[in-house]
Amino acid sequence: MNNIKIAVAKGDGIGPEIMDAVLSVINAAGVPLSYQFVDMGKSWYEKGFSSGMTPDAKATIEKLGILLKGPMETPKGKGMKSINVTARKMWSTYANKRVFKSLNGVDTVFSKAGIPIDITMVRENIEDTYGGIEHMLTHDVALCRRFITRPGSLQVHKYTFDMARKQGAKKVTCGHKANIMKLTDGLFLESFYEVAKDYPEIQANDIIVDDLAMKLVSRPNDFDVIVLPNLQGDILSDLCAGLVGGLGFAPSANIGDNVSIFEAVHGSAPDIAGKNIANPTALLISSCMMLRHLGFQQAATAIEQALHTTLNQGYHTKDFGTGKEQELNTTQFAEMLISNLPPITTVDVLNDASNESPELPKEFKTMVTPYNGDTFVNGVDLFIESTEQPSVIAHRIKDKLADSMELIMISNRGTQVYPEGSLLTECVNQYRVRVERVPGNPSLSADEILQFCMRLSPAIKLCSIEWLMIYNGQRAYSLAQGQ
Ligand code: NAI
Repeated sequence: MNNIKIAVAKGDGIGPEIMDAVLSVINAAGVPLSYQFVDMGKSWYEKGFSSGMTPDAKATIEKLGILLKGPMETPKGKGMKSINVTARKMWSTYANKRVFKSLNGVDTVFSKAGIPIDITMVRENIEDTYGGIEHMLTHDVALCRRFITRPGSLQVHKYTFDMARKQGAKKVTCGHKANIMKLTDGLFLESFYEVAKDYPEIQANDIIVDDLAMKLVSRPNDFDVIVLPNLQGDILSDLCAGLVGGLGFAPSANIGDNVSIFEAVHGSAPDIAGKNIANPTALLISSCMMLRHLGFQQAATAIEQALHTTLNQGYHTKDFGTGKEQELNTTQFAEMLISNLPPITTVDVLNDASNESPELPKEFKTMVTPYNGDTFVNGVDLFIESTEQPSVIAHRIKDKLADSMELIMISNRGTQVYPEGSLLTECVNQYRVRVERVPGNPSLSADEILQFCMRLSPAIKLCSIEWLMIYNGQRAYSLAQGQ
């Protein structure tokens, strides 16, 4: 039978130890996999590869489409981007799936109360503040741009519902903060219900993320599958890891249409590297997610059974459990798992045993949803640096407006301070000035706006500008607090 070839990066710190342990278990389960080891990690940064991988490693992963990855260290220092985040984004692994299941032998508050946990969380993996697009607008004011896109949201919701359907889930819950971030989280939520329509057998509901955090710790069994934007998903998935015993038991799959990455959630644990005491469980469960993704259902189930048996017998690595006599090192733990593998009578045979991409695309793919409504420029938000009073700024701005424009308001840190506001609103040295077209005038042109900006100089120091759009007759920008 043809082997499926996957790329394997052992990683840094404890990576090689836990990866060797995991591969020994997969091999013992008779899974027809072969491995192409790739050069990725801290030492490759240090050798001058700024993305933390060699061009060969990149090409291999893009060709094979599956990467089993050990934890990787990001060298400290400004300008160093995490190789983990780079890999997830570069290959568009838009859905981060994490499964949180109680494990026998792993004591938690919930296991002691006899409450089993079984939650699957999907975190959008590309967008949100993780674009890392940040600027200092003044020496005092930093801005992070938070992108939520319709195609990106539809993609992750579709993956979530497909996965929920496959695993027979009854309910999918969307966590969000659309009550405050009405456009960004609003778009994520709107896309969720748009996709949910195609899965009528699955109950779809939503919950504000702070309420979700509270309910996850008080009533975790209310949840089945949860989908969240990137940052909220990052925080709440670690919270869920805590429900089942900590990061040492948290697997993770980064799923994309072309490349998927399977890795443990924890890092490279430099404090225990090289001691052969690390716990390989999280990487092992991640590899089971990978086996299922590839279609090796029986092998994944057999390995999970071996893990449950081992934990039930009370065996554990140093980082969890009690009972010194049953404490095993990494290699011994893997050997125990192998000895506990159930008899394997048949192995999964995949119809299409080749996972290799025939060819890479020739150009970037642009994702855009159909739109044939009206597009209208209603005005502009000017972000300016100033320590002057809002009324003084207003006077300077009004002086330079074209006849077709009017000053609507000025805000500071999102709160309106002109024409009305409270003198108790504390201001920093950066204001937003909102100028709109006078009603009855046509859409403002880019020329009109740019000429207005040029007239403001040098009296007003511009930091940034943002167009105020109307799509399909709907205002496509938020109001200031108090506007
Ligand atoms: P860490 O997860 O490596 O370690 C935190 C603590 O948990 C340490 O005490 C460590 O000994 C323990 N620990 C972690 N995994 C363990 C395991 N499998 N068995 C037993 N004990 C374990 O987090 P830390 O120290 O913040 O990060 C270390 C490095 O890892 C950093 O360079 C960081 O950037 C990187 N990192 C990489 C990730 C990835 O590759 N996906 C994820 C998180 C961090």
